[in-house]
Amino acid sequence: MSKPKPSSLSSPSLKRSTSPPAQGMFPLFPLNFERYSKSILCSWMADLCVGNVGSIPRVGWRGLCMQDGPQGIRFADYVSYFTSSQVAAATWDRALIRERGHAMGSEARDKGADVLLGPSVGPIGRFATGGRNWEGFSPDPYLSGVAVAEAVKGIQEAGVISNVKHFIMNEQEHFRDKGAGLGYGYDVVEAISSNVDDKTMHELYLWPFAEAIRAGAGSVMCSYQQINNSYGCQNSAILNNLLKSELGFQGFVMTDWQAQHTGVASAVAGLDMSMPGDVTFNSRTSYWGANLTNAVLNGTVPEYRIDDMAMRIMAAFFKVGRTVEDSPDINFSSWSRDSEGPLHWAAEERVQTINQHINVRQDHGELIRRIASHGTVLLKNEGALPLDKPKFVAVIGEDAGGRKSGPNGCPDQGCNDGTLAASWGSGTASFPYLITPDAGIQRRAVEDGSRYESILSNWEHEATTSLVGQSNCTAIVFVNANSGEGYITVDGNVGDRNNLTLWNGGDDLIKVVTANNPNTIVVIHSTGPVIVSDWYENPNITAILWAGLPGQESGNAIADVLYGTVNPGGKTPFTWGASEDSYGAKIVYEPNNGDDAPQDDFEDGVFIDYRHFDRKNETPIYEFGFGLSYTTFEFSDLQIEKSNAGEYVPNTGESSPARTVGADISPDYSDYVYPDGFHRVDQFIYPYLNTTDPSQALGDPFYGSEASEFLPPGALDDSPRLAHPAGGGSGGNPQLWDVMYTVTATVTNTGDVAGDEVAQLYVSLGGSNNPVRVLRGFDRISIEPGASETFRAEITRRDLSNWDVVSQNWVVSGCPKTVYVGNSSRNLPLQGTLE
Ligand code: BGC
Repeated sequence: MSKPKPSSLSSPSLKRSTSPPAQGMFPLFPLNFERYSKSILCSWMADLCVGNVGSIPRVGWRGLCMQDGPQGIRFADYVSYFTSSQVAAATWDRALIRERGHAMGSEARDKGADVLLGPSVGPIGRFATGGRNWEGFSPDPYLSGVAVAEAVKGIQEAGVISNVKHFIMNEQEHFRDKGAGLGYGYDVVEAISSNVDDKTMHELYLWPFAEAIRAGAGSVMCSYQQINNSYGCQNSAILNNLLKSELGFQGFVMTDWQAQHTGVASAVAGLDMSMPGDVTFNSRTSYWGANLTNAVLNGTVPEYRIDDMAMRIMAAFFKVGRTVEDSPDINFSSWSRDSEGPLHWAAEERVQTINQHINVRQDHGELIRRIASHGTVLLKNEGALPLDKPKFVAVIGEDAGGRKSGPNGCPDQGCNDGTLAASWGSGTASFPYLITPDAGIQRRAVEDGSRYESILSNWEHEATTSLVGQSNCTAIVFVNANSGEGYITVDGNVGDRNNLTLWNGGDDLIKVVTANNPNTIVVIHSTGPVIVSDWYENPNITAILWAGLPGQESGNAIADVLYGTVNPGGKTPFTWGASEDSYGAKIVYEPNNGDDAPQDDFEDGVFIDYRHFDRKNETPIYEFGFGLSYTTFEFSDLQIEKSNAGEYVPNTGESSPARTVGADISPDYSDYVYPDGFHRVDQFIYPYLNTTDPSQALGDPFYGSEASEFLPPGALDDSPRLAHPAGGGSGGNPQLWDVMYTVTATVTNTGDVAGDEVAQLYVSLGGSNNPVRVLRGFDRISIEPGASETFRAEITRRDLSNWDVVSQNWVVSGCPKTVYVGNSSRNLPLQGTLE
């Protein structure tokens, strides 16, 4: 759909009903508009949270607060700064990921947020340079799927609705929006289109979303860009068909911020909530608001759709245990740290207490330290680690120190100065403190009686040379590479990275240190892989670690690993290639379709990250799933047991017809105008009409245009639909999760210290179009020296299936299937055939 006209439409929930609500149903709709005192939606900066849904005083409901994000609570004080999700994924530890979700959920709840805008599995990480990959888990859909499910459960167990984002194919920041707004310097009239085939969609991009829905996610955020040339928030094939029909999603779909481009079309395509509500920030216009009221009144949008939106929103609210009477106060303002200020920030209205400064951190610092150390990946170790009371430690590099303007000195972390513990964009929080590597390691060194010096600059080459050249020096060099969300440009990187090299002269710094020191340990803080080709084999580099974005406990966590308090067990959740070209698909950095929507054809299909390297038979430097320990492990005794899962039965039957709740709407426009004397808060998006004259009701220049002209046939049809053959339950047909095989293997700790091993199970699905192998099971197991533990994994029907585009279902092909077990995608000593 190109350039759809803005049409008449507005927000989720307003309808006049004269009959009592159906039994057991929450009476969401007002009997009288007069009883409203507030809007349905608020618009940008109009209320306390980044997204707000107005109250319903009639039932004593204070409305909803939506707050970012995937690494902690944004725009609030006295909150924790967690590790990135990518670091959480690198732990490969289900329980830790769940605990992290729960801790983030409880901080959101205690601040008064109802919806936490995370976790993210889109981008999944098709591009190694993708700006927001760190907000998600891993380019492997299985690892991402397990992780997002644990995160959703953790968040929602804390009583907060999780919001799984960005649905879907939002793989790059460049051109995610139309116009020239994001700083890439080109003015395209429509956002980029991610063009994908059905098989790739199911086997890769949709996979983790299905796991999130299966885990009970209450909401989903649709994405900015287009999918097959239809915007994410008005794409019926994506929202109605994939998400709601096939995956059986019962919660609500909200837009990304300003990702709505139409009123009627988005409503009938399956959008349930417009965020933040205005067309562009502070525009005082909305695709919904009064437009939606009018569209329902004039029959353009069916009434059942409005009921469905409201039902979905409230269903999610109740599902996580919220009640109308019992919603904690929203006790912070996103827009100020002052205690007093305007409640309605954009309108500068109702000055009152807006920040209660409640400390919601509990003991999460300890958890964050554990996740950060458990997610640190030891990539190389020539006996240098663990450190054992070294005589002299020199820590080198600005990435080990503080930021000149303080840990929260750059808005939304939009700079790269000092140690990289968190990247930039909406997925940021506020540091309650930040233990730098310099502080964390110095404390250990002093305890040990070591000599300790640090040079927290990348450019003091002379001083560095003279320091690290002294005898007995263990040199620890900290380097980084950053990326983030495209509305902020850092060092010329518009969200996405321009390349995979280290930032701020990191490669040169490594050269300076290694030229003068034979015992150099390199620590990398980054949002994904960096090119290490020039130096990783240098014999003077005795150890390399990846610490990702570790959050507030950065320095303590890295010290724990360096000194062996924590034996590293993290495994890299992405592949480290020899060069940027090794990765295949590249971000579209420049328009490739004139000034129309740039086109990105996902011709690489399911072959991203390790699947791409395996297909090309290119040896990566560090393969997906790789990570060393201070001990060693051996794998033995593979056993495969087949279970009797029975035949797969496609889902059949019909849905019930679309349902309208309550009585028909009143045809009288006077029932929908602003009540007399009603106080309008500037910039709020109200459902009320201006006058009873339909042609003047909105003051909308588009009124009277054929709003339905761009709706596809059947878009307004409320008759029963045939069930989706791959549907039938949350996440899809429940039989897809039938266990077909149980695989066990013995893992033995053959070294001298206790340690964790992540046993990994890969499957070859056979078939020439399939990846060489795909991850289909894992477990992080703690094992005492000399002891053995059993690794156990269940392989489901879905794990062995391919998507069949003809039957629109999952099918287990007749190709021979092989299972592999080991400790990385390329070290798989055990192998067996699945009968
Ligand atoms: C981001 C979302 C975020 C929203 C609200 C958008 O720019 O893409 O991930 O939740 O802003 O801050």
